[in-house]
Amino acid sequence: MKKNTLLFSAICILFAGCNNQEPLSSVIERGLNRSTEQALLMAKELENQEGKFPKTIGKDGNLETSDYGWWCSGFFPGELWYLYEYTQNPELKKYAQLYTDRVEPAKNLTNTHDLGFMLFCSFGNGYRITQNPHYKEVMITGAHSLATRYNPTVCAIRSWDFNKDKWQYPVIIDNMMNLEFFSWIAKETGDKQFSEMADSHAMKTKEHHFRPDFSSYHVVSYDTISGEPHIKQTHQGFADESAWARGQAWALYGYTVMARETGNIKYLELARHIADFIMNHPNLPEDKIPYWDFDDPKIPNVPRDASAAAIMASALIELSQLDTTPLGKEWLALAEQQIRSLSTPEYLAEAGSNRYFSIMHCTGHLPGNSEVDVPLSYADYYYVEALLRLKKLIKE
Ligand code: GLY
Repeated sequence: MKKNTLLFSAICILFAGCNNQEPLSSVIERGLNRSTEQALLMAKELENQEGKFPKTIGKDGNLETSDYGWWCSGFFPGELWYLYEYTQNPELKKYAQLYTDRVEPAKNLTNTHDLGFMLFCSFGNGYRITQNPHYKEVMITGAHSLATRYNPTVCAIRSWDFNKDKWQYPVIIDNMMNLEFFSWIAKETGDKQFSEMADSHAMKTKEHHFRPDFSSYHVVSYDTISGEPHIKQTHQGFADESAWARGQAWALYGYTVMARETGNIKYLELARHIADFIMNHPNLPEDKIPYWDFDDPKIPNVPRDASAAAIMASALIELSQLDTTPLGKEWLALAEQQIRSLSTPEYLAEAGSNRYFSIMHCTGHLPGNSEVDVPLSYADYYYVEALLRLKKLIKE
């Protein structure tokens, strides 16, 4: 048995003996300290590889990297900022700045809808922590680039530019993750068109992306003349009518943010329904780490998606603070279970292993036979975000 597993077993025996769980503060500390060790090793590994970011582990077992144009480029710098905030270690700040700078060319991209992820996780966290005015300028430029993808007839931000013969105007549920960025830009600049775009995108998505059980489609494509949906699909999931796990996580996170940003009860109610769908789904495993798709008929013999769990946990912690009904406590309890599971050796890598990613067992795009049962930079980012949110809560 490896050292880490032995240590973890000893902790479990200790607390089982007292008929008690490991204190949450100790779980949080382990997760943050391990993430710090791994992120520093990763930062050093890629320090001299100009313009590169960690992406995943490839089929050959090697670290796969990306450049600034990949939708995930902002996650590693964002994680470094969070960990700098936690540790105050100047080395982490140095690396956070280095990797954030690498994302800067993304501010001019108009061929992707992922600028919220790319710029707000990196420059957004960097600005929150340092108030560096250049970081704000980069985000304002990026927000104008992203706004070119907003269509006032459809009332939504366009997601993809490919498959134009199939989808006239595809909007994916992941696109909800841009709305925190737009809301922040509106507040910082006073330019209300950004909060208006965020609100109408959220309203349009609320109207058309959800099924009666409050699970979400992945892609809704709109007719550009009528602004009405002409296709509903689940491109990265098991089937068009299935509930792709990460899609449900993006929906939960996106509507929780919009409930906070607008105070609109309709967004809070939708976030509650999505959380309820996840929490009470018969295929949610006991450890609360979802299978990659809730409806894969081969469950339980299918991969998990720990990235979805990390995103859900972070969103649920925030939802628990917005929802003043007794359900608030349930959202927090589910998030805590997810964080406890992610912080066991089953999901949390040993220091120095897993090609220096923290979280194992994520699924990127199973139908594309890509990134199955691997680490992913966004799992690490949202895991650290959730740990910090929980840490703040238990202190209060
Ligand atoms: N935004 C892409 C994904 O969640 O895989």
